[in-house]
Amino acid sequence: MHILVFAGSLRKESVNKKLATVISGKLDVLGAEVDFADFREFDMPLFDGDLEASDGIPAGTQELASRITAADAIVIVSPEYNYGVPGPLKNAIDWLSRIRPYPTIGKICFLASAAPSLVGGARGLIALRPALSFMGLWLSGDSFSLAQANKAFNDDGGLNDGDLDKMLDGMLDRFVKVAGSAQTI
Ligand code: FNR
Repeated sequence: MHILVFAGSLRKESVNKKLATVISGKLDVLGAEVDFADFREFDMPLFDGDLEASDGIPAGTQELASRITAADAIVIVSPEYNYGVPGPLKNAIDWLSRIRPYPTIGKICFLASAAPSLVGGARGLIALRPALSFMGLWLSGDSFSLAQANKAFNDDGGLNDGDLDKMLDGMLDRFVKVAGSAQTI
């Protein structure tokens, strides 16, 4: 099973990228073939209907679409900006939604977030769900939010908190099982 994993942050030291790396390692152990992408690979302009009419879908959006198409399932690890979806990620979703059929149709999706705050970006994931549902993704009921993410990682890049680590293991195990059974539909 192919799983695309990316963080919705462009920052080099992004805590969401760190969590995406942890998740990728766990999915690898569970037997998935992980395509770990840096969101910078999907560089694209702000959505502009005039630009779309003159130049079509940007190369960065097409790259994201083809990586999604090649995957059976997707993991998005996203920060929360002002209780909502970060602009760069929402912009990518808006551009993707101009492609027919949606490359996201039927893909199983797990959402995670990380933030230095005590809420861990969970409100951003709630805001992200409607746009992704609209795009035909099957969203896992589980999602994982890492609070106080600035001090949540050990020197090896893993999670400090063993209980949280086990919770994430359980969620990803269920996600891989559901994604595997969806392949047979
Ligand atoms: C934030 N941050 C933030 N954190 C949070 O828990 N709730 C929020 O609503 C916001 N809003 C917000 C808006 C903007 C514009 C920025 C730049 C930041 C803080 C945010 O969680 C923190 O900067 C993270 O480190 C961002 O994630 P990455 O880039 O480290 O993955």
